Amino acid sequence: VFAHVVRAPEDPILGVTVAYNKDPSPIKLNLGVGAYRTEEGKPLVLNVVRKAEQILVNDSSRVKEYLPIVGLADFNKLSAKLIFGADSPAIQENRVTTVQCLSGTGSLRVGAEFLAKHYHQVNGSFIFFILFFLFLRTIYIPQPTWGNHPKIFTIGGLSVKTYSYYDPATRGLNFQGSMYICFLSCYDDFFFGVIGLLDDLSSAPSGAIVLLHACAHNPTGVDPTLEQWEQIRKLMRSKGLLPFFDSAYQGFASGSLDADAQSVRMFVADGGECLVAQSYAKNMGLYGERVGALSIVCKNADVASRVESQLKLVIRPMFSNPPIHGPSIVATILKDSNMYNEWTIELKAMADRIISMRHKLFEALRARGTPGDWSHIIKQIGMFTFTGLNSEQVVFMTKEYHIYMTSDGRISMAGLSTKTVPHLADAIHAAVTR
Ligand code: LMR
Repeated sequence: VFAHVVRAPEDPILGVTVAYNKDPSPIKLNLGVGAYRTEEGKPLVLNVVRKAEQILVNDSSRVKEYLPIVGLADFNKLSAKLIFGADSPAIQENRVTTVQCLSGTGSLRVGAEFLAKHYHQVNGSFIFFILFFLFLRTIYIPQPTWGNHPKIFTIGGLSVKTYSYYDPATRGLNFQGSMYICFLSCYDDFFFGVIGLLDDLSSAPSGAIVLLHACAHNPTGVDPTLEQWEQIRKLMRSKGLLPFFDSAYQGFASGSLDADAQSVRMFVADGGECLVAQSYAKNMGLYGERVGALSIVCKNADVASRVESQLKLVIRPMFSNPPIHGPSIVATILKDSNMYNEWTIELKAMADRIISMRHKLFEALRARGTPGDWSHIIKQIGMFTFTGLNSEQVVFMTKEYHIYMTSDGRISMAGLSTKTVPHLADAIHAAVTR
């Protein structure tokens, strides 16, 4: 009965690791998946995580019972505090509901399904109702974005559209577009990249959902400035667009947990609603523990508690209730001020090592006289550099240099080390000069 099943392609990101694992070359280098590596090229378990695990193991009162459907209460409270800030009025007014989910992906997926079921506004008039019925439940995602986003939201029951984000010409943010090129964009807006982010959000139907990367945009490493965030916020609030933040890199962009939460906090400070999906995969190195949280900021405490009751109905048939080990590690660290400080130091060290890799790669390309302006390597932030290399160049680098990366030219700077920078620089040089 399954004979008709066709083989599915490998995942565009995780499939890179599958190909890498099959390569017997001793010089192979995996810059595909966004996972932190040490200078020795090894995965890192943070010392503070080891300590927290030891505390948990030594606590004989701990049992392996089911968690409630919404997860570990302490973890949820501390996660909301981490992203919204300890003094957040939304937390103080009990307007936030937070549920533990399976890392960032699971949080986005639960959020999508909740929105598909419950997000609609009825503004009294029948016409409004019809318009909202037609247009709502559409989520606008940046172009480009993390490859899993469109899949998560589509399967979650939302219709997916894109908004302009990246300008290949400047390798920076395509914020405003431009009048001159706007005209050309009637023919081809992708190549000229000229309808800007603001244009697209302005023409999104009122009430649409907009996915925003809280910081360290994946895959481009390009974030709006705080002033640009403020413009985005004003525009979105004036049009009634609902923000859904994906916060997968808090602490990884600047090395500061608070600075990397600024975009989210701006939207919460204005009193409006928003959703936030948090992941502890990168910032605590808990990749395989699948620890994350979905928070929904509501208008008041009563709405928040009703929203939570519905989130339980989404979670129960999806994964029943979440795992206990990962969030216990996070809660142990977040509630102890010494461990929290230790974590911030280790986190900053990871962020700083990535920044130093950016400088080393940039210098190595300059030393080789590699044609092109590579300053975006040091301007972009977070785990990734969106190199601008095309898919043919990527194939060449994999075939000739055993360097593995996603076909869009994204490289994980976190996978690079002082020892491997020259190899990557040689490969890039060869790819662009051949
Ligand atoms: C990535 O973009 O490489 C990471 O977020 C890992 C993943 O699951 O894709």
